Amino acid sequence: MKTITLPGLIDPHVHLRDPGQTHKEDFYTGTAAALAGGFTTMIDMPNNLVPITTKKLLDQKIANAKQKTVCDLGFHFGTLGDNFDQFEMVKDIVMGLKVYMNITTGGYKIDSAKLIDIYKAWPTNKPIMLHAEDDVSDIVLKTLKTIPKQTHMCHVSNQKELEFVLKAKEAGLPITCGVTPHHLFLTDKDADKLGPFGHMKPYLKPKKDQQFLWDHLDGVDIIESDHAPHTKQEKLSSQPPFGVPGLETTLPLMLTAQAEGKLTMDKLISLLHTNSAKLFNINQPKNTSVLVELSETTISNKNIHSKCGWTPFDGMAVAGFVKEVTVNNKVVYNNGKILAKAGSAKIIK
Ligand code: DOR
Ligand code: ZN
Repeated sequence: MKTITLPGLIDPHVHLRDPGQTHKEDFYTGTAAALAGGFTTMIDMPNNLVPITTKKLLDQKIANAKQKTVCDLGFHFGTLGDNFDQFEMVKDIVMGLKVYMNITTGGYKIDSAKLIDIYKAWPTNKPIMLHAEDDVSDIVLKTLKTIPKQTHMCHVSNQKELEFVLKAKEAGLPITCGVTPHHLFLTDKDADKLGPFGHMKPYLKPKKDQQFLWDHLDGVDIIESDHAPHTKQEKLSSQPPFGVPGLETTLPLMLTAQAEGKLTMDKLISLLHTNSAKLFNINQPKNTSVLVELSETTISNKNIHSKCGWTPFDGMAVAGFVKEVTVNNKVVYNNGKILAKAGSAKIIK
C-alpha cells in the first residue's frame, strides 16, 4: 500500500450555511467534511440566509463557529455596496471581502456600477474575492486599473475568464484566480445527465473550455471547492438552488489528475495549500499533515460527511483518499472517523 504525506490543505472558498440554513450544513458537519477531504483550514463565504454585512452579524457568526468547528476556520465579509461604515471595524477579523457581480444563491448581486466605490472603501490589502463571470470582466478591469487592490477571481470556468486573468497578470495587476474541481472534471454534457445535481454558478462549461483550464493550469493559483451544499429535496424541487458540495472529493479528484500526468505533485500542493497560505497570510499549526493512501477507490454518497449526503461525483473511480489527518501533533481524523472535539479548532483572521 503506497501512502504519501501532504501538508494540511487550505480551501479559501466554502459555504457552510451556518447560521440560517443549518438543515443543509452547519459548522460541525462542514468542518468534519473538510477533515475527511484533507482540509485543515478553510474560509467561509458570507452569503448566509441573512448576509454577513455587519460587524454584529460577523461577531455572532464567529461566536457560533467557535463552539462547533473541528478545522481552522476564517471568514470573508460581505457587501451589497451599502455597508462601508463596517469595513474598518471588521478588517482585522476577516480574511477578505466577497462581492457578487452575477446572480447566484441568495440573490446578493451588486449593481456593478458600485464596484469602484467598494474598491475605494475597502481599507486593507486583504483580497477582494470576486464572483465575476465573463460578462462583467470589462468593469473589473477598469476598476482594477484605477484602484489596484489585491483581487481574487473566484471559480474561473471558461477560456474567456482565464484569458482575462492571464492578461491582467501580464499587465502586472494584483490578481489571482481559483478554479473548482467541478469545472475541471465535469462539462455541460454531465450537466445534462446530472440534472439539478450538476446545477451551479458558474454553470458547467463545454469540453473546449474545460480543456483550456487544464492546458493553462500554470496560470491558475488555487483549487477552491466552492463547497455549496443543498439538500437532495431542495435540488429536486421545481427551482433547484445553485451549488454542489466539494470538500470531500477535491483531493481525490486532483490526485487522479496527478496520477494521469495532468499536473505534478508540486503543483497540486501549491494549488491546494501553498498559494492560499501566501495570499491569505495563513500560518498553520506546526506538525500538521495529511496522510493519503494512493489506491483506487470509488466516490460514494454513502461515505459523505457533509450534511447534504450527496456528491455529483458519486460512482467515480479516483486514485487516492485521505486516511489520517494530524493537526498540531494530534490525530483529528482517521479512516472515516472525526476524532477532534467540536470547538477544538481555531478561528483564524
Ligand atoms: O453554485 C453556487 N452556489 N455558486 C455560488 O456562487 C454560490 C453557491 C451557494 O452559495 O450555493
Ligand atoms: Zn461560492
